[in-house]
Amino acid sequence: MNAMRAGRYVAAALLGLALVGQAQAAEVVIYSARSSQYGPETAFEAFTKKTGIQVKTFGGNSSELFERLRAEGDKTPADVLVTVDAGNLWNAARAGLLSKVDSPELLANVPANLRDPEGRWFGLTMRARTIMYSTKRVKAEELSTYEALGDPKWKGRLCLRTSTYIYNQSFLATMIKRLGEPKTEQIVHGWVANGPILINGDTKILEAIAVGQCDVGLANTYYLARIVAKDPSFPVAPFWANQQTTGTHINISGAGITAHAKNRASAVKLLEFLSSPEAQQMFADGNFEYPVNPHASPSPVLARWGKFKADDINVAAAGEFQAAATRLADRAGYK
Ligand SMILES: [Fe+2]
Repeated sequence: MNAMRAGRYVAAALLGLALVGQAQAAEVVIYSARSSQYGPETAFEAFTKKTGIQVKTFGGNSSELFERLRAEGDKTPADVLVTVDAGNLWNAARAGLLSKVDSPELLANVPANLRDPEGRWFGLTMRARTIMYSTKRVKAEELSTYEALGDPKWKGRLCLRTSTYIYNQSFLATMIKRLGEPKTEQIVHGWVANGPILINGDTKILEAIAVGQCDVGLANTYYLARIVAKDPSFPVAPFWANQQTTGTHINISGAGITAHAKNRASAVKLLEFLSSPEAQQMFADGNFEYPVNPHASPSPVLARWGKFKADDINVAAAGEFQAAATRLADRAGYK
C-alpha cells in the first residue's frame, strides 16, 4: 500500500467514525404540554439510557404548543407532540400537525378506545374525571351518577370547574356521543339549577370540598392522588360515577408524531417505548395516572381506590363533539 492510498484509508476510516458519531448523537425533539405541569419524565430518561437516543423537551401549555407547531410548519424542530386531553390531540390531528404511524407494537400496547382510529395519536396515560366528595359531610351511598348531581339535594353543595376548560368540554362531548344532545343538555341543566360554585382549577375544587365550601364536585383523579400522597387524611374521596350504566368518564394524555418530523424513526421508537409496560410504570407513577397498557399497574395510591368500570367509548369523541359541547354549555347556562 503506498502512502497516498494509506492516507485515503485513514481518511475513509475517519469519515466512518464521524458518521458513527453522528448516528450516536441521534435525538428526538418533543414539544410537551406535560413537562411544565407534571414534573420530570423519568420515562424519557430511561429511553435515552436504553437506546442512546437523546431526548430534547420543550415545554408549554397545550394551546401554545399547538400554535407553535402550526406557525413553524415544515420548519418545526419537533418530532413528537405530547399533550393532555384527547380533545387537544384530536385538534392537532385535524389541523394536519400529526402524521399516521403504523406500528404493530403501539396497536398492541394501547387499547383501541384510547388512540386515534386513524393512527395519528396514542394515549400514554389515562385519568378518570369523576365525582369527588367530602368524606365528612357525604356518604358514598348518596352518590351514583353524574346525572344525579342535578338532584335538588345538591343545591348549593356542588363545585364545578368552568365549562370552557377542555377537561369539561371533553367530558360533555363524550356525554353527547353517549347520550345525545337533548339528554346531555337536560343533565347540565340539572347541575346549573343547583347553583354550582364555579372554580377554575381541579386542585382548587378539591380544596374547596375539603374546607366545606361545597360537598361534591368533579375532578381528575391525579389531582386528588397528588394531595393524598402527601396528606392521607385529606377529607375528600373519589366516587366512581356511573358504574351501573355507562362507566366513569376517562381521558388521556398522549402523543403523536409531527407531520414534519426530522427524526421519525427515533420518534416511533420513543412512542413504542413509552407504551411498553416498563415505561408505562414510570410514566403513570410520576403523575399518579393510570397506565394505558394493561400490563402495567396503577400506583399504590390509586390501587387503594379500587378498580372501576371506565366508559369505553373512543376518546376521540372529545374532539368530534367539542364544538357541540361548547354550544350546549352556553344554551344550558353553564359558564
Ligand atoms: Fe391536568
